[in-house]
Amino acid sequence: MRLGIVIMAAGKGTRLKSKRAKVLHEIGGRPLLEHVIAAAAQVVSPNDILVIVGHQAETVQAAVRDTGVRFVVQEEQRGTGHAIQAAEPGTQEYDELIVLSGDVPLLRPETVLALRDFHLRERAAMTVLTAVPADPFGYGRVLRQSPDAPEVTAIVEQKALEPEQLGVREINSGIYGFQRKALFQHIGQLRANNLHQELYLTDMARILHDAGERVVAIAAAQPEEVLGANTIAEMAKLDRELHMATAQRLMDNGVIIQRPETVVIDARVEVGADTVIEPFAQLLGKTRVGSDCRIRSYAVLENTTLEDQVTILHSCVIEDARIDRGARIGPLAHLRPGCHIGEGAHIGNFVEAKKTHLGKGSKANHLTYLGDAEIGSGVNIGAGTITCNYDGVNKYPTVIGDGVFIGSDSALVAPIVIGEGAYVGAGSVITKDVPADALAVARGKQVIKEGWAKNRRAQREAQKTRG
Ligand code: UD1
Ligand code: CA
Repeated sequence: MRLGIVIMAAGKGTRLKSKRAKVLHEIGGRPLLEHVIAAAAQVVSPNDILVIVGHQAETVQAAVRDTGVRFVVQEEQRGTGHAIQAAEPGTQEYDELIVLSGDVPLLRPETVLALRDFHLRERAAMTVLTAVPADPFGYGRVLRQSPDAPEVTAIVEQKALEPEQLGVREINSGIYGFQRKALFQHIGQLRANNLHQELYLTDMARILHDAGERVVAIAAAQPEEVLGANTIAEMAKLDRELHMATAQRLMDNGVIIQRPETVVIDARVEVGADTVIEPFAQLLGKTRVGSDCRIRSYAVLENTTLEDQVTILHSCVIEDARIDRGARIGPLAHLRPGCHIGEGAHIGNFVEAKKTHLGKGSKANHLTYLGDAEIGSGVNIGAGTITCNYDGVNKYPTVIGDGVFIGSDSALVAPIVIGEGAYVGAGSVITKDVPADALAVARGKQVIKEGWAKNRRAQREAQKTRG
């Protein structure tokens, strides 16, 4: 038995009122279609997944090309039945097909496998995955031959429901198993004699049943996983479901999430046990967090790796960074892409860094900008230090050796090298390299005028008494 999976993703998503194709809208930090492909790829190899694209076909293909799936273009979008007609040539090598919808993103691989097994066991021409959600409004309804029988006689869309069918609560998930031969033998019978003048794949239930083929239904274990994303509000609901599911998975693995309903943790994020995540933190993209870390409120981490025992204090914004064991960042620090913070190092409040390596145990605790800097270990960067890395045209590197002390309010004009163990006096503007173990001071010389202030006050007093 050769099994292929077809994903319908050509629709525009009119109900979203968005410029972006529906299947590229994101939940859990990932486009809808990527979620569906990820589930399908747990069941068959990517090469056996055929994605039907149409609306913004090129953008959609580009977004998921690296998954290794195949594509077919449905030039005009004339309905789900029409989409499957367009996919026929690409499916000839298969005996059985599973059809998924690109806008049903919470579907679990286990459920696809259960659908497959049931479909094969029942030797059905068509198997419909169904659910009984709290609110069935808007979905197609599945009409069974009798309430307890698996046999299905038809699927009726919401707007076509007869008054006596309004009470049917079992919905069509838009996910099916098909015997390929039976499907394409009868698919030509689809007619666009409905409200939208489209070819509905759902009509295959009645067509196949009337042709004497076996059409059955199996209910998904969890109704939430087959909810569709057709509007922005539905999208937000699924996003919330997914983030809650991710938080739950992490908590099951020993991560302490203080107010799980307030945090945003994307599906691919990994966190080690005994790490504490405070309310309103966000862990996005491919972020990985070690064990025994603490991520305080309002920190936003994206595509960032933290080793064990790292502390991220309140309101930090960190992107594409690597932070080694025991380091401490923030509060209110901004690490722009390309930073590597060494073991036990500190980045304090109002520090911004970009493409900077701060070595083991080094500290930049206050009010500093570090850009394109290679900083050794045991370095102290004083408050208000600025690496002047940009001359308006080009960016230049700053290199600071181990054990260097940079006094407060220094400007290091790059390209510049501060040798190991050197000192830079506070308030210096450093434009020439500093040799190892030297002291560099570059500021105006201090002038002392003894008694000057006292004299001035005396003059003022004299003026007042004169009148
Ligand atoms: C569909 C089902 C409905 C079911 C619901 C479950 C039909 C007629 N109705 O309705 O019974 O309850 O899904 O979520 O199938 N697509 C194409 N080409 C097209 C049209 C659609 O590829 O020409 C794709 C869309 O991109 C989408 C999927 O098919 O991923 C479903 O289409 P959509 O318009 O969202 O169908 P629903 O109205 O939700
Ligand atoms: Ca839909």
